[in-house]
Amino acid sequence: MSQKRLQFTTKLGVIATTVGSAVGLGNIWRFPYEAGEGGGGAFIVVYLLVIALIGIPVICAEFVLGRSSRRNIFGAFRHFSPKGKWHYVGYVGILASIMILSFYSVVAGWTMEYIYQSVSGGLDYGTAASFQGQFDEFSHGNWRPLMWTVAFLLCNLLILRRGVQKGVEKMSNIMMPILFVLLVVFCVNSLMMDKAGEGLQFLFNPDFSKVTPQVVIGAMGQAFFSLSIGLGTMMTYASYFSKKTDLRLSATITAVLDTFVAILAAVIIFPAVFSFGESPAQGPALVFEILPAIFSQLPGSAVWSVLFFVLLFIASLTSTISMSEVSIAFLIDEKKMSREKATWLNTGIAIFFGALCALSFGCLGDVKIFGLTIFGLFDYVTSNILLPVGGFFISLYAGWVLDKRIFNRELADGRRSFFAWLMRFCLRWVAPAAILIIFLSQIGVL
Ligand code: TRP
Repeated sequence: MSQKRLQFTTKLGVIATTVGSAVGLGNIWRFPYEAGEGGGGAFIVVYLLVIALIGIPVICAEFVLGRSSRRNIFGAFRHFSPKGKWHYVGYVGILASIMILSFYSVVAGWTMEYIYQSVSGGLDYGTAASFQGQFDEFSHGNWRPLMWTVAFLLCNLLILRRGVQKGVEKMSNIMMPILFVLLVVFCVNSLMMDKAGEGLQFLFNPDFSKVTPQVVIGAMGQAFFSLSIGLGTMMTYASYFSKKTDLRLSATITAVLDTFVAILAAVIIFPAVFSFGESPAQGPALVFEILPAIFSQLPGSAVWSVLFFVLLFIASLTSTISMSEVSIAFLIDEKKMSREKATWLNTGIAIFFGALCALSFGCLGDVKIFGLTIFGLFDYVTSNILLPVGGFFISLYAGWVLDKRIFNRELADGRRSFFAWLMRFCLRWVAPAAILIIFLSQIGVL
């Protein structure tokens, strides 16, 4: 496998693509609804702890494994441990990436519907309650959600065919900064609402009596999901980094910016939730009901909502591209498939499962597995189980099996470094133990 791997061209390109992978629906759609259901402040405290103690170390582990092996998740494990069984972690990652791509595309499809609605004037007037009705009608409608899911996956395909570097780097460079600015503007607007105080209270005044095993596992799942870790996305991207890329800096910047965007999104949503007299625990529909209600109160509402949903759509694309690349890099490197074929295969499978997820808000709504809809099941199983399982093994591998010199070389150019020591310590002890304890308490053993 000596073919030359494409590399990201600039420093900004590296940051923008990893941040582009991390920042997406996870921050703006999933974080607010998970925090709302998890009771607000207490959820956020646990979330931040997971980011610091597990998240950043696991990003570093993925970066180290990816860049030093220059391979996809499956190939990386086989490269370092040809005889071991570690590459099975790769299968978990590939399964998770396809499952996430499927339900993620449904939500990304919703953003396309909302772009369409904004342009055609459908979001100009209304209240949170009326937008709730509008969302329900749309999502129960079967055909439209289905069509948008497929449309989104085809957009994903178009970019993936061109390869990561040409396809993603330029788009991320431009769009990510614009998204940040827009979020800050909306944040200021929300802070001026009459019940802003209640929203902030809900978010930042933790009530620790609300911390249940369910909240903790939800916060851990959200952290893995939001940082794009546990299934080899960051590993695959790091295999395209050059030797000059500073992994420490990239890992920290990615985690900090990703967390910042999630908090911004929550600060946009919750003051509005309380000002509109809505409940914070509304599940996946939350931001699609609250955001239009916020925009409709602004002067020139359609302009804001078009701009916002277009950026959200692009942020989703930069994320789905990164997760698709996990299985595509696997098919190309290990199965010797052409890029074209691999991309189509990935898209085809995601269209099939994506359709099931899209319809689970409509005609498949009664199909329940463990009490969850198909969409809910895909979401729960990937974030709360598969990603942490992947993270567990990635931590163990990087902490205990991988040669310490490789770890230090990648993270600190072989010099003595407190940061590298700390990351390795977290990967050896803190992260695996924490993940295990959280799992055990969830199933009631602890
Ligand atoms: N982190 C992205 C988001 O927040 C989604 C994502 C991209 C992802 N790649 C991933 C999630 C890999 C888990 C694993 O929207």
